[in-house]
Amino acid sequence: MIYLDNSATTKPYQEVIDSFTQVSQKYYGNPSSIHRTGAEAEKLLLRARQQAADLLEVKEEEIVFTSGGTEGNNTAIKGIALAHHNRGKHIITSQIEHPSVLEACKGLEDFGFRVTYLPVNHQGLIEPADVEAAITEETILVSIMHVNNELGAIQPIKEIGEITKRYPKLHFHVDHVQGFGKVPLSLSDSGIDLCTISGHKIHGLKGTGLLFAKKGTHLFPLMHGGGQERSIRSGTENLAGSVALVKAIRLILEEQRQKSQHLLDMKERLWNCLDGMEQVTTNSPAGHAPHIINISVPGYKPEVLIHALSEKGFYISTKSACSSKNEDVSSVLAACGLSESRSSSALRISLSYHNQLQEIEGFCKAFDEVLHQFSEIMG
Ligand SMILES: Cc1ncc(COP(=O)(O)O)c(C=O)c1O
Repeated sequence: MIYLDNSATTKPYQEVIDSFTQVSQKYYGNPSSIHRTGAEAEKLLLRARQQAADLLEVKEEEIVFTSGGTEGNNTAIKGIALAHHNRGKHIITSQIEHPSVLEACKGLEDFGFRVTYLPVNHQGLIEPADVEAAITEETILVSIMHVNNELGAIQPIKEIGEITKRYPKLHFHVDHVQGFGKVPLSLSDSGIDLCTISGHKIHGLKGTGLLFAKKGTHLFPLMHGGGQERSIRSGTENLAGSVALVKAIRLILEEQRQKSQHLLDMKERLWNCLDGMEQVTTNSPAGHAPHIINISVPGYKPEVLIHALSEKGFYISTKSACSSKNEDVSSVLAACGLSESRSSSALRISLSYHNQLQEIEGFCKAFDEVLHQFSEIMG
């Protein structure tokens, strides 16, 4: 099987699984317990937090371990909204965010918050000037993703951070779930106050992730209880998951340093072959992330192509996994101004450092065969 759906989830590194197993077996104590087993678990948790901070080049007290991207995004958005509503009730985000951002914002509208959903251009990009124009006295949060999960468009985070920095009342949150480990972004140097990372998108485990919350950022917790994770996320810590997450972060950053060119080579090969196919239109914008390629095959139902490819052992997806069963039209592609025939026939191929050029060659051949097969049937 050739797995080309790495933006939906990734295969965990063996070292990550080993870490999780070892820690679960050896350090099962509760980090809050006073006895030695608890103290050992607490020490390991502190070490994992420090290592995560070192790898991300931030401070140890700025790391909050979470269960993944959805929790990180909700904690950041609702946490800021509920902690700072006395200062203002306006939030700025974009029309092409992940549902964990869009739905969190929509939920807040029921509580009197006003949300501006910024448009994007044909390339799926936000204009930083639009962010600035939308800021009012009431704005407390700007939440913009780094890499879009369907298109691979890379938002100008640094430029937006330069703007938000000038407004002391504002917090800037970045959903970095798709970009982390593939597209560099400095957390300490981009005006970012909050940043979400998910473990299972970087060959870590499902149910793991972290939220970077800049020192001094006050969040209302989603979960009240024993005060773990600096009271931002109460509940007995997932020590094995946190250690495994740090391992995944270390390994993916190493791969990013060593294998970026390999990813680019595969993307280029894939792009050239798809671009040359008559029925295919490529949707990902120029300069997009190296691991996500979005295409449309107008006139074809994406599910049918996905099943046919799956029969041949190639796994890709339509839109994102989180919304792929819901509707036909991709709201992300529609927001970019693409026609309905393109927005409803989109496919996403997403790569990892572990894919090989031969797999890309194999995919191109299989895809070509599938298209020929269907065009013959359709006459
Ligand atoms: C951009 C983006 N943000 C957030 C999430 C949610 O992450 P998780 O699956 O870890 O909850 C995803 C998952 O697809 C995503 O692509």
